[in-house]
Amino acid sequence: MPIQRSDISEHGRPAYRAIADALERAIGTGDFAPGERLPPVRDLAKTLGVTVGTVNRAYVLAQSRGLLTGEVGRGTFVLKRQDRQSRIRIAGEDSVNAADLVVNQPPVALTDEEAAQSAARAFSRHGSTLFGRYPPTAGIAEHRAAIAAWIGRTGLEVSPDQVLVTVGVHSAIAATSLACLRPGDTILIDQLTYPGARDLLGVLKFRVEPVATDAEGVLPDALEAAARLHGGRAFVTCPTLHNPTSSTMPDERRRQVAQVVERTDLLLIEDDIYGHLPRSRPVPITAHVPDRSVLVSGMSKCLSPGMRLGYLVAPPDRVAAITTALHDLVVAASPLSPALFTEWLNEGLADELLERIRHQIARRHEIAGDALGLAPPEGSPHLWLPLPPSWTAERLVEAAARVGLHLPRTDVFAVGRGGAPRAVRVALGSVAEEDRLKSALRRLRSLLDQAPPRAAPVI
Ligand SMILES: Cc1ncc(COP(=O)(O)O)c(C=O)c1O
Repeated sequence: MPIQRSDISEHGRPAYRAIADALERAIGTGDFAPGERLPPVRDLAKTLGVTVGTVNRAYVLAQSRGLLTGEVGRGTFVLKRQDRQSRIRIAGEDSVNAADLVVNQPPVALTDEEAAQSAARAFSRHGSTLFGRYPPTAGIAEHRAAIAAWIGRTGLEVSPDQVLVTVGVHSAIAATSLACLRPGDTILIDQLTYPGARDLLGVLKFRVEPVATDAEGVLPDALEAAARLHGGRAFVTCPTLHNPTSSTMPDERRRQVAQVVERTDLLLIEDDIYGHLPRSRPVPITAHVPDRSVLVSGMSKCLSPGMRLGYLVAPPDRVAAITTALHDLVVAASPLSPALFTEWLNEGLADELLERIRHQIARRHEIAGDALGLAPPEGSPHLWLPLPPSWTAERLVEAAARVGLHLPRTDVFAVGRGGAPRAVRVALGSVAEEDRLKSALRRLRSLLDQAPPRAAPVI
């Protein structure tokens, strides 16, 4: 049975919720497969030492999270991934007032004309080779050099030989972990994190353990203790405009973290996906501990999520192994996006687009400040909004969805059993028009000013 008593033994959380969370984890790691039938309520209740009613409530909660489907007389089944997506969409999405505050992407900066013209220029030089040949797995040398130059703007000097072109951050993390670690190894990760990274590591059969953070990011002592307690082999963190909290780790803390990484023999996987958005920022932690770090990043937040252009920077002695793992995963990333990026960089369009995105994000911060009385740190495309004591994150997300405001559930960002803090992440870049964003955030404000709706009576 993928769920045991120890999974729900933590105090301070209702048992049905702990069971639903454990189910979600087991589904995320594949221990319960898509389409698999869940154990009958009575059996699970017996295994866990809880009442049948508690397990029933847990199944209902997991259904409302879009994870399960119940079929009368046949039992309860894990939804297939594609069905999960469609069920997670909530009523009201198509109405004129609907607003996507979930997807964390920058406002659109490129015009159709710029796209067409830069593509024509990029592909007119080596187009037939780009389209007609498999690229090297690490990427074409000219593109790696362009990306190395782009990375240099963060203060990290790298050689193009250390740069590998990837399909977004996901394949960069997957290739790094598969090349440098063994299945079953423990990877430490910020206690609140980008869920995509945590879920990916679970799917790859790594054990993932949370590390405590404060407003400046991971706590060095907590990292050291967790590394020793769990025998951690790697640490994944996003120290610049962290997702979801948008905090940036100051330089001093970065140096302390680098020392812990060194002392405890960890591999650091530094996710710098938001790193180009602020106008100034501390240098990546990787610069302080280059032999033990792989920096993963890409263009999704600073130029274009549609390009699916990611990259990683590896220590020279890791490049070959990570390239082999990348080949196993994707053979090679398409060279078309890096060719376009190289053109943009050489023509100055990359800087121009980044400036436009920064400018639009700043305008959206003003809108958030007016509507909600709070704006995120400079450059952040997402806002971490603390809630008044009357609201829990779960209730607010539900109530907002009923009026067409779509927010991500806060518990998806939590690793382990820490539970969800009283805050929601608001993505500011997805709603295309500023007026609509203004109206959406004002509606969110007025919702927060009201008392939450009473829960339906439970008999
Ligand atoms: C911290 C973090 N890393 C990576 C990603 C996704 O990166 P990519 O689009 O390159 O896969 C996100 C997207 O939200 C993110 O927040």
